[in-house]
Amino acid sequence: MTDVVLTSVAEGVATVTLNRPAKKNALTTAMYTALADALDAAEADADVRVVLLRGHETVFCAGNDIGDFLDRPQSGTDAPGFRFLRTIARFPKPLVAAVRGPAVGVGATMLLHCDLVYAGEGATLLFPFVDLGLVPEAGSSLLLPQVVGHQRAAAALMLGDPLRAAAAAEAGLVNAVLPDAEVLDVARAQAARLAAKPATALLETKRLLRSGTQAALLDRIEDEGAVFTRLLGEPEARAALGSFLARR
Ligand code: COA
Repeated sequence: MTDVVLTSVAEGVATVTLNRPAKKNALTTAMYTALADALDAAEADADVRVVLLRGHETVFCAGNDIGDFLDRPQSGTDAPGFRFLRTIARFPKPLVAAVRGPAVGVGATMLLHCDLVYAGEGATLLFPFVDLGLVPEAGSSLLLPQVVGHQRAAAALMLGDPLRAAAAAEAGLVNAVLPDAEVLDVARAQAARLAAKPATALLETKRLLRSGTQAALLDRIEDEGAVFTRLLGEPEARAALGSFLARR
């Protein structure tokens, strides 16, 4: 495992930490592979009952690494980013997220695949795909309107309006907003509660909760991925992404 994604297991909970704070936890190709590997390992390990996903105290995740987008655009839906999205979308064990600071792009859409999400008061969810000349991914064009309704999803996905923690909680995207310093402890405590429950009943409950949308979700990830990859090569996206990197 690379040091930009850390994994530890204790008392039935695997903690997966995004650990590239100097780049705001932006996800590189190698990090997608490490994340997918960590989830696969957690799925295979009978001692792991629950996965806790966390970022840094200053940032959850700034989305895909923009330099990677420009220099190493992922081609084909077998690319590491798509593998990660499919893996998290299919992940059978409970996923708990602890979010502080910004969660942008895939940093926000991955939360839609978590079962319990705890956010600090300073957390903000941002889905800036359209402004970057791109489309939503990770099945967010399906999952976000299911959770928050069409109009609020349109404001987030089309206008790109940020959702601060309180609004995200009110919209049903996060379970609770907490003082920043308490987020990780609360998320850990809830993960520990889940880990102590009857394992099969918990797995079956997650499967049943997700079963109505699972097939459509995997199809949507493929559909979104095809458009996303095409638009990534278009001048609008390249200009928008390039201007982020050149902004200083
Ligand atoms: N890809 C690559 N590098 C990124 C990045 C990304 N998605 N997000 C942040 N970084 C880098 C910055 O380039 C900067 O690097 P540098 O110090 O070498 O110049 C460093 O991380 C710090 O970022 P900065 O923007 O100065 O931090 P901030 O606290 O002012 O803002 C964010 C934090 C997350 C709000 C802001 O970085 C941001 O909007 N990032 C881009 C998000 C995005 O559009 N993601 C793509 C979604 S599809």
